[in-house]
This record gives sequence, structure tokens and C-alpha cells, in this order.
Amino acid sequence: MVERNISDDEWRALVAAAKAASAHAHCPYSRFAVGAAVLTFDGGVCPGCNVENGSFGLTVCAERNAIFRAVADGAKAIIALAVYTPTPTPTTPCGACLQVIAEFGRDARVRCVCATGAFDEYAFGELLPHGFALPPE
Ligand code: THU
Repeated sequence: MVERNISDDEWRALVAAAKAASAHAHCPYSRFAVGAAVLTFDGGVCPGCNVENGSFGLTVCAERNAIFRAVADGAKAIIALAVYTPTPTPTTPCGACLQVIAEFGRDARVRCVCATGAFDEYAFGELLPHGFALPPE
């Protein structure tokens, strides 16, 4: 179990990082800029944005970019994730991102924040209750 309380300050920093990252989105095809930021177990904050590609299928979402960056920085576990979308109401991560979150943050809290600042918060297990995991050897 990799779980702990996330303070208001930590959420503020995560959401600010996610929103700032959305300004770096490369989204000429969808024009839908998304930002995400993960809080790692050591207290590090790692942002990401969506990066689209002219070969559409190669597009990578903001959430996965934030997680892969955190892992490349040495993170082993994610305890919180904020996602920012420029929408009137919050949106949740796509299925592919949920499966990637499952790898590093089965106990993570996920806060989905929209343009008004309103948010929905979930325990990761509410978003992907029966995600695939390789059986133990
Ligand atoms: N996208 C994300 O970055 N995160 C999500 O949770 C959903 C969708 C991106 C992918 C694509 O660049 C654009 O938003 C439209 O789907």
C-alpha cells in the first residue's frame, strides 16, 4: 500500500504544475491542451502535457508523459495525480492512461480539474476497479 494524506499545499502545487504544463501541450490536431502532474512518494512533483503526432496513433496523453517522466527521474510510486483540462467540467483520464497509472499508483488519489477550478477527486480504484495486473510468479 503506497498511500498517505495529500495536504492542501501539495494539491495546490500539483494543480498549478498541471495547469502550467498544459501551456506546453503540442496539440495542433485536436486543439485540446491537457496538463498533468504527479506527486511521487518522495514529495517530488513531475508535470507533463499531451504531445500529438501527425501519425495520430502516436499521440501520448499528458498523464502518461508525466508518469514516464517521473519514472525516468527515478520514481517508483505515484501517490497523487492532478489532471487539468480547459473544459467547463472536469474530465477523467483515458483508459490507456488508467492502465499506466495502475502500474505505479494503484493507491493514488486522482484530482481532475477544469477551467473554472472545479474538480472531481477519486481514489484510483474507483476509476479502474479491475485493472489488469500480471499474476505473481
Ligand atoms: N488527452 C490527454 O492528454 N489526456 C486525457 O486524459 C484525455 C485526452 C489528449 C490526447 C489528445 O492529444 C487530446 O487530448 C484529444 O484527445
